[in-house]
Formats: sequence, C-alpha cells, structure tokens
Amino acid sequence: MTALIIGASRGIGLEFVRQFRADAAQVTATARNATGLARLRALGATALQLDVADVASAAALAWYIDGESFDMAVIVAGIYGPKTTGLEPPAEADFDAVMHTNVLGPMRLLPPIAAALAPNARLAVISSRMGSIGLRAGTSGWLYRASKAAANSVLKDASIALRDHAVCVALHPGWVRTDMGGAGADLGVCDAVVALRRTIANLRPSDNGAFLDHDGSPLAW
Ligand SMILES: NC(=O)c1ccc[n+]([C@@H]2O[C@H](COP(=O)([O-])OP(=O)(O)OC[C@H]3O[C@@H](n4cnc5c(N)ncnc54)[C@H](OP(=O)(O)O)[C@@H]3O)[C@@H](O)[C@H]2O)c1
Repeated sequence: MTALIIGASRGIGLEFVRQFRADAAQVTATARNATGLARLRALGATALQLDVADVASAAALAWYIDGESFDMAVIVAGIYGPKTTGLEPPAEADFDAVMHTNVLGPMRLLPPIAAALAPNARLAVISSRMGSIGLRAGTSGWLYRASKAAANSVLKDASIALRDHAVCVALHPGWVRTDMGGAGADLGVCDAVVALRRTIANLRPSDNGAFLDHDGSPLAW
C-alpha cells in the first residue's frame, strides 16, 4: 500500500502517517518546515517540503510525485482563520490566507495528485461538517465554513473528472483534539484517524463524490 498525505507536520495528517507506517505502508508525506519534515522522516516516510498556498512549492511537489502510483492520497492541510462568531467581515489578508490554503491549494494539487494515482485509488480531502450548508445551524467561523464549502465543491468536480480512475470523497474528521480542534474536542487524534482510515478502506465505487463523516455516514452538502 502506498499513500500520499498532504499536510502532515502535526495533528490529523501526522497521525495518518504514523498509523500507515505502523501498518508498513510506503508513505510520502509533506510538511512546510524542517521540524515537520524531521518528524516525517523519523516515522520512515518520504518527506517532501510543501506549502500548499505557494504556487512554486505546489509545482515542485508535482515534479516530485510525477510517475508515482499512489493507492491513496489524502489532502489534510488546512487553517481555521479568524475565530468570529457572527457576520464580522474578514480582513482581506485573512480571507486570502484561508481561501488560498483550503481552496486554492487543493485546486492546484488535485491535477498532479490525480496523475500520480494508481488505478482504482482513493482520494480524500479532509473537509469539515462546518462547511455543510444543509446542516448549518450556527455562524461561528464563517470564513472557515465558506472555505470548506468551496473545498467540497472542488472535491465534487474532482470526483466527476476522475470517476473512471479513483473514488474521491470529502471527509469530516469529527471534532478532534489537535491544535485546531483544541483540548476540549470530542475525539482523540488516534481514534479519529482509525475511523477515517476505516472509512477510506471501505469506500466503494458508488461512494465516489460523497461527503462522509469520519465513521462513514453520509453528510448533507
Ligand atoms: N481538528 C478538528 O476538530 C477538525 C474538524 C474538522 C476539520 N478539520 C480539518 O482537518 C484538517 C487537519 O486539521 P488538524 O486538526 O490536524 O489541524 P492542525 O493540528 O492545526 O494541523 C494543520 C495542518 O495543516 C498544515 N498546513 C496549514 N497550512 C498549510 C500550508 N499553507 N501548506 C501546507 N500545510 C499547511 C499544518 O502545517 P504547519 O505545521 O506547517 O502549520 C498542519 O500540518 C484541516 O483541513 C482541518 O480543517 C479539523
């Protein structure tokens, strides 16, 4: 089994790498800085430097993975941005940072990742239930919500473009105790990734284009 994990310096991405390596999978994983890259190498992964918000960095990744044949790819990198509660307009810099990381990053990376997938591979974008419009019941973090709704749209298009090649899904990891989720979150990172990996492993062709919770149950877009 070969896996590509995008955004693996810490949190959910790093735990994906740890668990895949514990299962002796061959893992290629990315981090932005030397500390993150060292963590990945210590786990036995091939570590590549990538800032998903930087066009040159994304182009370099495309070059590195050219000719690979991954059974599975997971785009995990993401940021939350301003912790707003209502309709506070974001500063332009915050808007750009969140949208570039959570939306433009996957839009840039999906084509080279798709070209580096094995036949019948699985491709997941770690989204968030907060991006669901159908389940929307609050307004906290509306910039983050908008970015994850847009990321879902991007994943849906990828699922149509790649329908004969891969099973593509958007996944909500649960509310997870990471730097982003905070100490009061429901799920430990180990349990969250165990559930996400099980959901990815159980994907069938008919799941292509789905938005799923960490336990595999469908979520409204
Ligand atoms: N935790 C939750 O409760 C929760 C819930 C729903 C969805 N999610 C989603 O799950 C994903 C992972 O979240 P997490 O909880 O593991 O968060 P985290 O602990 O804050 O980790 C975020 C990861 O994204 C990376 N990243 C951020 N900006 C990047 C960029 N420009 N280029 C490359 N990597 C970048 C970070 O790298 P650096 O170390 O370099 O910053 C880090 O590895 C995110 O997409 C998040 O939206 C999380």
